[in-house]
Amino acid sequence: MISLMTTQDDSANITVTPTKDGPLEIVGAVRVVSADGTTMREASRVYLCRCGHSTNKPFCDGAHSKNGFEDSGLGKAPATP
Ligand code: FES
Repeated sequence: MISLMTTQDDSANITVTPTKDGPLEIVGAVRVVSADGTTMREASRVYLCRCGHSTNKPFCDGAHSKNGFEDSGLGKAPATP
């Protein structure tokens, strides 16, 4: 399990964008933490693999391009109640 944590004052300013045919782009003051609580990266922008082919998970290493990962990044419309 990977947790995304925000620094104290910036929790309201995180944007997660599924990029077209690529990773999740996380913009904001982000800390990526492993299952044992170890901080893996702190940055203002990170790219997380969503294709499953990265050899550096959870981070994108560009393998999505070589493996033909395709997704519009548009997601699906939220379910209506
Ligand atoms: S999304 Fe880039 S390697 Fe998976």
